[in-house]
Amino acid sequence: MSEQAKRPLSYGMIGGGPGAFIGDVHRRAIALDLDSRLVAGVFSRDREASLQTARELFLDESRVYPDYATMARKEAARDDGIDFVVIVTPNVSHFEIAKAFLEAGIHVVCDKPLTTELDDAQALGRLVAERDLLFAVTYTYTGYPAVKKARELVRSGALGRIRFVNAEYPQEWLATRAEADNRQASWRTDPTQSGKSNCVGDIGTHVENMVSYVTGLEIASLSARLDSFVEGRALDDNATIMVNYSGGATGLYWTSQVAVGADNALRIRVFGEKGSIDFRQEDPNYLRYTPIDSPAQILSRGRDDLGERGQSLVRIPSGHPEGYFEAFANIYRTFTGALRKRLAGEPLSDADRDFPNVDDGIQGVRFVTRAVESSASKGAWVEY
Ligand SMILES: NC(=O)c1ccc[n+]([C@@H]2O[C@H](COP(=O)([O-])OP(=O)(O)OC[C@H]3O[C@@H](n4cnc5c(N)ncnc54)[C@H](O)[C@@H]3O)[C@@H](O)[C@H]2O)c1
Repeated sequence: MSEQAKRPLSYGMIGGGPGAFIGDVHRRAIALDLDSRLVAGVFSRDREASLQTARELFLDESRVYPDYATMARKEAARDDGIDFVVIVTPNVSHFEIAKAFLEAGIHVVCDKPLTTELDDAQALGRLVAERDLLFAVTYTYTGYPAVKKARELVRSGALGRIRFVNAEYPQEWLATRAEADNRQASWRTDPTQSGKSNCVGDIGTHVENMVSYVTGLEIASLSARLDSFVEGRALDDNATIMVNYSGGATGLYWTSQVAVGADNALRIRVFGEKGSIDFRQEDPNYLRYTPIDSPAQILSRGRDDLGERGQSLVRIPSGHPEGYFEAFANIYRTFTGALRKRLAGEPLSDADRDFPNVDDGIQGVRFVTRAVESSASKGAWVEY
């Protein structure tokens, strides 16, 4: 490797200010691998709040900028400018921020949903290709080693031809008008911040990405019903979506933020002619695999062989639970590994590229767009 690739990588962050949720998770997940350092940021549009976060993180305040556009310009001009930027602001701002950094020649990690408009997502895709930059979209849940094994089982043909996928993601946290005093709830239920959808955009995109990642199935058409159960809410808080995949398999997705009793219960079940898999995000160290006419097998991370890719991301022995932070860190480990190789001028293998990318982000926005279209026409089947 070149000298450049041996140094710690440096990154900047947009969002993740005082009281923010996911920016802090990103910072801690990146820190798990000890190879990248936060050196710059705009943590809030409020300058004082941004500086407060910078102080808490012991950052050099000269690299805390008034806004993202200034940061992109100034970091690009520095010899020791950031290697990548992490975007963890509300959905509506992802496009302009990602565009500014791509145009400045800086690699990007952006949270989902990639954008609020499909045209914008596609424009980012073109920009990534033109500038030949790396772009990750943090669909966290595909980072689990058990999910890598699920993908390997499905794609190796162990399940036979896939017939049906059932995926669900219920949560409870918006079962009441939480938006009155919860800022995460407030912007997610506001179309000017969240986009055309709340529930499908926020968690339906995780379902779409998880199914696509594990099975490789491509959606051909869908029929959606989006509900808004809590009075006065402008956007959906529950959705039921039927899916036809190219090749004949079908699927049913349910996402909800009003499912009383549910925490963060993402679950995917894939049924083929010869077997099935069942993965539950709240128990992510295990994968249930059932070959037809045989007892179910519970594959345990750290104990059982999760395949080459899955094993490469196992950090600690079985019975020592890994979870959300590790799943996030696995996406970052793969992304920064690819970035190091890129900086060293080395080619990237399929394993190096095994992080959710801008195309996955575009698919997520397409999914939201088509689901909203279908629901607006009373659940009519819409071509994908
Ligand atoms: N991958 C996941 O599992 C996951 C989980 C939660 C949230 N998210 C996504 O992360 C994003 C942020 O969600 P959150 O829950 O952390 O929101 P949040 O409201 O907790 O945090 C947003 C932060 O962005 C800052 N901000 C807003 N506009 C800004 C701007 N122009 N410049 C600088 N800072 C700005 C706010 O001050 C705040 O600090 C959303 O797109 C959400 O969908 C992803």
